[in-house]
Amino acid sequence: MSQQADQGSSVVEEVSGGVLIIDFGAQYCQLIARRIRELGVYSRITVPERAMFTLKHMRPKAIILSGGPCSVYAHDAPSLDAEILAQGIPVLGICYGLQWLAEHTGGSVLPAEKGAEYGRTELQPTDTQDLLKGVRQDGIVWMSHGDKVQKLGPGFEVMAKSKPCPFAVVGDRKRKMFGLQFHPEVNHTVDGQRILENFVLGIAKCDNDWNPGNLAERKVQAVKDLVGETGEVVLGLSGGVDSSVAAVLVHRAIGNRLHCVFVDNGLLRQGEREGVEELFRDHYHMDLKVVDAADRFLSELAGVSEPEKKRKIIGRVFVEIFEEESKDYKNANFLGQGTLYPDVIESVAAHGGATSTIKSHHNVGGLPEHMNMQLVEPLRDLFKDEVRALGRELGLPASLVDRQPFPGPGLAVRCLGDVSLAKLEPLRQADAIVREEIELRDLHKDLWQYFAVYVPQKTVGVKGDARVYQDVCIVRLVSSQDAMTADWETLPTDVMRRVSNRILNEVDGFARVCLDISSKPPGTIEWE
Ligand code: XMP
Repeated sequence: MSQQADQGSSVVEEVSGGVLIIDFGAQYCQLIARRIRELGVYSRITVPERAMFTLKHMRPKAIILSGGPCSVYAHDAPSLDAEILAQGIPVLGICYGLQWLAEHTGGSVLPAEKGAEYGRTELQPTDTQDLLKGVRQDGIVWMSHGDKVQKLGPGFEVMAKSKPCPFAVVGDRKRKMFGLQFHPEVNHTVDGQRILENFVLGIAKCDNDWNPGNLAERKVQAVKDLVGETGEVVLGLSGGVDSSVAAVLVHRAIGNRLHCVFVDNGLLRQGEREGVEELFRDHYHMDLKVVDAADRFLSELAGVSEPEKKRKIIGRVFVEIFEEESKDYKNANFLGQGTLYPDVIESVAAHGGATSTIKSHHNVGGLPEHMNMQLVEPLRDLFKDEVRALGRELGLPASLVDRQPFPGPGLAVRCLGDVSLAKLEPLRQADAIVREEIELRDLHKDLWQYFAVYVPQKTVGVKGDARVYQDVCIVRLVSSQDAMTADWETLPTDVMRRVSNRILNEVDGFARVCLDISSKPPGTIEWE
């Protein structure tokens, strides 16, 4: 991901209106953004330093000041141009955001006693006219720890209290400025979504037309506007959800001026390449080039066992091949990518300092700047669940839209030690058996990922009448919400037995099948 991309040059659409969220370093900032979008309202996150700049471009109808780990008195506390309060735009401060608001509207804040921590508490609304309309008495709210407001500035009044906090909800109705000393976005806060809805729709009167149907039309139009009548786009298709949805969108916008390149790196799962060809070439009639690069990847990987080295080689060879193949499209002046919003969100460093960090994309690994192409990233303002909804809207099959995550470096991270065809072939077959048996019975609905791993550890077995010394196949089944944490899972015994029997009988290479019963943390999902 280039810095240039972050300056907005590849944004295919400038959405105005909606909610601008200012990130003071909150753990839950992305969650706030998603909650707002669940209300059908566009939301965007920015850092305090860029707030005024973004505000001018976006012209939001509401501003949310997020929480953050700092005290407003800390020397490196994130600060914001107080001009933001003079724009006549409704403001909601959450935790640190509330304290910042109080400080800048004539109130005062009491520094926390060390370790002050509130957690769950009950809310007692005293004013339920607008922000707290429909919010019940004694509903649980999740209070943050840290400083608290001591005195309100002129115009502000208390709208709710809680046991540890006389200023749990405050507001100045005239100036449409409000503050919460708890997190409305987390699930534990009863009526949290109601409060956000009251603010965003009731008070700020934001339009709630952010839905997949509208989104598809708007995105197609935005790609048309960006690429123009004659521009051509080359896009690296991986067969994953993001690049597939991006390809279908761009194709809808510019037809055969989109050229897709699919690199078969020899590290794909069984049937993957054929699936891509069938869907994109046969069904969508896209201009799709399939590059058979398995030999090149495998020869570069030969003898390399160190996981990070393997990843680096795969990333480098992909870029080299992509660059070579793109040269065939002489008129292509745009590069399509399925970059998502979480990949580009600017966020405040955890200590609350002024630096903003921009994550680089996991898989693309940065295509070279000298390719000198303008980026088309139609998904760069969307969260994953929104991309899936958009994919469904565009008619992509459920098997693709809901498919399990698969790492960019492919089976290389599931083939421990060095990568060779002799290991990849049995791994591919075992993995296909795991998937088939699970999907046949619809058991994958409860699993985040389900796959096989090749462990090159010789172990004894008996096949036919002979002793064999063959390797270990691990079956990995996990449930998860977001891959940050995961639980190990199992299958009904008869299914497990069938998976194991099939692998041991049908695949030549394994003497043993084991189930991984490690949760994450401390285990990770992949074995590397
Ligand atoms: P771990 O193994 O760290 O994986 O628990 C977390 C999630 O990330 C996936 N993963 C990747 N996804 N490119 C990707 O797109 C990668 O290089 C990559 N490595 C791991 C993994 O499958 C799991 O869902």
